[in-house]
Amino acid sequence: MSPSQPTELSVYAEKLIRGRRATRAFRPDPVPEETLRAVFALAGAAPSSSNTQPWQVEVVSGSLRDRLADALQAAHAEQRTTVDFPYHEDMYSIAQQRRRAAFGTALYGALGIGRNDHAARAAFDAESLRFYGAPHVAFLFTAGDAGARLAADVGIYTQTLLLAMTAYGLDSCPQGLLSFYADTVRGELGLDRGKLLVGISFGYADASAPVNHITTDRAALDATTTFRC
Ligand SMILES: Cc1cc2nc3c(=O)[nH]c(=O)nc-3n(C[C@H](O)[C@H](O)[C@H](O)COP(=O)(O)O)c2cc1C
Repeated sequence: MSPSQPTELSVYAEKLIRGRRATRAFRPDPVPEETLRAVFALAGAAPSSSNTQPWQVEVVSGSLRDRLADALQAAHAEQRTTVDFPYHEDMYSIAQQRRRAAFGTALYGALGIGRNDHAARAAFDAESLRFYGAPHVAFLFTAGDAGARLAADVGIYTQTLLLAMTAYGLDSCPQGLLSFYADTVRGELGLDRGKLLVGISFGYADASAPVNHITTDRAALDATTTFRC
C-alpha cells in the first residue's frame, strides 16, 4: 500500500480535523454529563513534555456560567483587563496581519457589520463575553507559574480538546478574548493560582445563524512548511 493511499483512519482524520470550525452562535441546550466526561477524558490523552500534563481545566455550566458572563461583561465595561500571557498587536508579521484582516472581513461581513463600523464591532466583541450563547465554557489554565513551554503543552491540549468535541458532535469556539479577563475568571471560580491561556465556549451550533457559515482558508503548504533533506 502506498503511503498516499487513504486508510480508514486517514479518512476519519481528514473529516475530523477539517470538519472542526469555530462556532459563534449556540443553542442553549446543555451537553449531557456523560458526554462531557467522555470528551474531557479523551482530551486528557494529549501529549505533553515528559508527560507532565501541565493543564488545569475548569468546565463551567449552569448558574455559575451565567454569573461569570455577567462578571466578564462588567469587567469589560469598566476596562478591567488582566492578561497572564502578554499580547501585542505588533507580534504579527505582515503575512499574518493579512490573514487576520481577511478573517475579519469574512466574520464581520457575515454579521452585516461594515469595515469602519467600530462601534458595532466592539458591541459584538463585548457580547462574545457571554460565550456566544453557549451553555458551557472551559477555561484552560497552565498549572503553576508557567512560561512559554508549559503554555505550548496547554496549546496542544487545546486542539486535542477541540477535536474530541468535534468527534462527539459538539461545536466550539476557542476565545482568546476571555483570557484578557484572567483575574475576573479566577475571582468568580475561587481560584488563586494558574495562568489563563484561553477559554473554549461549547455546546451545539445554531445552524440558522449566518455567522456559523463563514469559511476560513489556510495558507498554501509551502508558505508555512519546508521539507528538507
Ligand atoms: C488561541 C485562539 C484564540 C481565539 N480567539 C478567538 C476569540 O477571541 N474570538 C473568536 O470569535 N474566535 C477566536 N478564535 C477562533 C479563530 O478566529 C478561528 O479558529 C480561526 O479564524 C480559524 O477558523 P476555524 O476555527 O473556523 O477554522 C481563536 C482561536 C484560537 C486558536
